[in-house]
Amino acid sequence: MTANELRKKYLEFFASKGHTIIPSASLVPRETDGSTLFTTAGMHPLVPYLLGEQHPGGNRVANVQKCVRTGDIDDVGDNRHCTFFEMMGNWSFGDYFKKEAIEWSFEFLTDPKWLGLDKNRLYVTVFKGEDGIPRDEEAIATWQKVFSAAGMEVEVAGEDEIIKNNVRIIPLGTDDNFWIAGATGPCGGDTEMFYDMRPEEGKLEGKFGDLVDSFRIMEVWNNVFMEFNKTVEGKYEKLAKPNVDTGMGVERTLTVLDGEYTVFETELFKPLFEKIAEISGCGYQDSDETKKAFRIIADHIRASVFMIADGVTPLNTGAGYVLRRLIRRAVRYGKLLGIEKDFTVSVAEIVIQNFGDFYPELKKQREIIFAELKKEEEKFRKTLENGLRQFNKLSSTAISGKDAFDLYQTYGFPLELTIELAKEKGVIVDEKEFEEELIKHQDLSRTASAGMFKGGLQDSGEETARLHTAAHLLLASLRQILGNHVFQKGSNITPERLRLDFSHSEKVAPEQVILIENLVNSAIDAKLDVLSEEMTLEQAKSVNAMGVFESKYGEKVTVYSILNNDGEVVSREICGGPHIKNTGELGHFKIQKEEASSSGVRRIKAILE
Ligand code: ALA
Repeated sequence: MTANELRKKYLEFFASKGHTIIPSASLVPRETDGSTLFTTAGMHPLVPYLLGEQHPGGNRVANVQKCVRTGDIDDVGDNRHCTFFEMMGNWSFGDYFKKEAIEWSFEFLTDPKWLGLDKNRLYVTVFKGEDGIPRDEEAIATWQKVFSAAGMEVEVAGEDEIIKNNVRIIPLGTDDNFWIAGATGPCGGDTEMFYDMRPEEGKLEGKFGDLVDSFRIMEVWNNVFMEFNKTVEGKYEKLAKPNVDTGMGVERTLTVLDGEYTVFETELFKPLFEKIAEISGCGYQDSDETKKAFRIIADHIRASVFMIADGVTPLNTGAGYVLRRLIRRAVRYGKLLGIEKDFTVSVAEIVIQNFGDFYPELKKQREIIFAELKKEEEKFRKTLENGLRQFNKLSSTAISGKDAFDLYQTYGFPLELTIELAKEKGVIVDEKEFEEELIKHQDLSRTASAGMFKGGLQDSGEETARLHTAAHLLLASLRQILGNHVFQKGSNITPERLRLDFSHSEKVAPEQVILIENLVNSAIDAKLDVLSEEMTLEQAKSVNAMGVFESKYGEKVTVYSILNNDGEVVSREICGGPHIKNTGELGHFKIQKEEASSSGVRRIKAILE
């Protein structure tokens, strides 16, 4: 089956079940979404409707949504990871619920009129109950009924999550079977469908997680039953009307239908690989290295084409920086294949040929896509050769931060590229020194007060207050470096460290982490007063205070403001406190960890030294 046939079948099926077909929303969320750099899931542009707003298409809609997740850009090249992917989804906004969703999923997957997959190769997971939310007995009973109607009596796995005998339903906890896009918002338990990829290996048996890891079974579809709205306090409030949000990856479904081993062997990538082979003179199957390079080039150029079509251009900040890193990484891998001339446009041409019928914006933006790719490739290629030559001259045991910075500054190598090159050579990069160089160059160098805080505060309450204030500076700095789509999605402060969850769908590049730390530390060094004022919610809004504008705050709120020495607002947030009086009391701010929290949300853990 081709991708075009698959998309068409999916939409036809759900149209036949009363769904309105809606087009994919842009990859770039509307400013008002205030959420992430890119659309990361089909439900992302539909959140207002999942929270109760009336959708113009009615209470049942279905679509194929363009998505980008680059949190795991480094993993592209393995079997499963793409940065760009398409998610087919059907939604019920307070209309049908578990019974219909599950029955239709089974029908679409197994009926020969639709996908005609083998029901004997199908396994499903359900939510086992956790965090005060009960086990999803309704989903379990519905699946048993659906299988039974198809002549299969199926059993439910126990706590050991082992598939044996007639076990086909596996209850799992929140990590696997509870879905939320971010830290707060509509959420609920889900049921996921898996397909046996290698029945020729005999009866499928074993622990569920092991079977996934060995690619014996692969997830094809997720049905989320959104029954709750998770509040900022971490409470699960029952939604007035429950919703269904489903996500079925085009790439994975084709993999399953084609009986292929990975998404990269499907017809979505084949024409791209043919083009890359033609340009490079290498074969995809030649070696592990060529395989990896082909996958990275195809994936990254495909993602870049879609991003540019939706208005992103290569820049040093925000979504533009993600695009720039993708294009540069593709060019670098092209070079590994021996491609010395510009080639991204010819690969982009194939992307447009293959995806342009379903996504007409690609055809419309064709010239812009080519122009942006060409410009960025030329720019990078000019310095790539010399940069690589420079890199090869560097020490064979370690790469100093100064050298890594030179590669960044003079040759346009994002730090992650230098680290990747270094890894290939088996050497390490002095990231700490890179950090110092970057800061020196930005002329934002902290001076006297690093380490000024002597740790005199014994009271854990005061430690907490310091970290509270640091969290405000951190949020302000994140917005400055990453963009105004960054909002706080959750926080947790202990006397030892702060943890901040914020809307942002990408991994924060190491050089950005450094700049963020540095902004916080310069605010600390400047010894700025932390002002607190009582005002009404309306007043707080009018002075652009950040915060959660919910009635729970009551009429009067406290607004904490930090102004710089020119009287400009560095940070202004509605907050219950506690805070310290002057940023000079904070000491040295250090980000310890940056990681994914959930889809579209990153998490930073930081300390004050
Ligand atoms: N929102 C669900 C997902 O992305 C369907 O998996």
